[in-house]
Amino acid sequence: MGCVCGHGKESYEKYLEPLREILACYSPEQASLIPILQEAQEQYGYLPKDILGEIADSLQMSLAKVYGVVTFYTQFHLEPRGKNVVRVCTGTACHVRGAAEVLKAIEDELGVESGGTTEDLEFTLETVACIGACGLAPVIMINDDTHGRLSPDKVAAILDSYREKQAGAVPEHGAVAATAV
Ligand code: FES
Repeated sequence: MGCVCGHGKESYEKYLEPLREILACYSPEQASLIPILQEAQEQYGYLPKDILGEIADSLQMSLAKVYGVVTFYTQFHLEPRGKNVVRVCTGTACHVRGAAEVLKAIEDELGVESGGTTEDLEFTLETVACIGACGLAPVIMINDDTHGRLSPDKVAAILDSYREKQAGAVPEHGAVAATAV
């Protein structure tokens, strides 16, 4: 199988090294599929087709069957994801307090719709049902941080802080960011 990015055989082998280490930790049977997929996604950020092919071969499963499992579970992703995952709550409490406007502001700021990933792979934008912080509605989560009582005008600065965070320019965000309290 050739490398997806057109690299030579040697590069492809290097690319597969982490997967081989993961596969070595599990017995080659179908029961190992889910934990292998989880670890592979952790390693590669998503589940590229060639990685799924290697996993299928290793477990002596058809690629179609592996795809069936991957597409069944929302935890698995077949496309690259952003370094930061933005989840906008659209549950009832957030909905009545303006979640749609917050979502629109984020979509405009990032230039992607819900479900999309920015071209620079900085952000993936998703909507979710209630995330259990209704008292702070409307709420978004960015990675593990909760931002509450949002309004559309606060969105740009929050997203910028994550871009800067990537560059190491601002301190760590807490579990509940300042906008949430
Ligand atoms: S509805 Fe948004 S946190 Fe509960």
